[in-house]
Amino acid sequence: MNQITEFPRLHTVPMSNHEVPQVIAIDGPAASGKSTVGEAVARRLGFLYFDTGAMYRAVTLAAIGRKINLGDETAVTALAESVHIDIVPPTVEDGRQYTVLVDQVDVTWGLRSAEVDANVSTVSAYPGVRAALSRQQRRVAKTGRVVMMGRDIGTVVFPEAPLKVYLNASAEVRARRRAQELAERGQSVDLASVLAAMIERDAIDSNRETAPLRIASGAVIVETDGLAIDEVVERIVALAHERFQ
Ligand code: CDP
Repeated sequence: MNQITEFPRLHTVPMSNHEVPQVIAIDGPAASGKSTVGEAVARRLGFLYFDTGAMYRAVTLAAIGRKINLGDETAVTALAESVHIDIVPPTVEDGRQYTVLVDQVDVTWGLRSAEVDANVSTVSAYPGVRAALSRQQRRVAKTGRVVMMGRDIGTVVFPEAPLKVYLNASAEVRARRRAQELAERGQSVDLASVLAAMIERDAIDSNRETAPLRIASGAVIVETDGLAIDEVVERIVALAHERFQ
């Protein structure tokens, strides 16, 4: 079976060159390989690497830290609009891809906690939170060429990106990858509960009203079960060479 398929380009609106965002949009469900692939593609092409999931996680962690009721949409939205999130190159060599600062405090590993995993989809379903973070994402792309990972980058934030990729893998493969990552960080893991939590998060992300996880029109779909990371990276790099001059 061909694991890499290209969706028909449904509506390509001609734009003058300076209006086209210089973005490779990589979307997909939890643990589909976005960060590993995205980082490698960015390094190969000399693009900035930007993981928007870290922003949603940062707002969630900040809300938990400030004891904001996560069901209080108004309060969580106000926090998303005011909190200062910085994503910068790694400040510590401990396997991190980047350092995340919330109001100047390093929260990089806190973003990966089970508590954030369990609550981030509630926070990211709020339209006001999404509007605040999408604005910042659009600002980042004005600074230069960027590989941006998320759930709605190709559908909502940059629908006109020259290259959109939807990375996918079966739930079992994704749960095994996530469990392995957690084990490598010394966390005790039970595969069945990792799988259950991931399926629940995917369901909320795919069924929310605002910017649900969807395959963007014109996206290249990559099914990564059984594919080596390098094969996926090569394919995306080749497409980028065709589409970015
Ligand atoms: O690493 P993983 O794929 O598990 O998750 P992530 O990319 O860090 O994203 C964490 C959560 O943030 C997702 O489950 C979504 O709820 C939310 N998210 C989003 O709504 N939109 C984005 N562009 C990125 C993440």
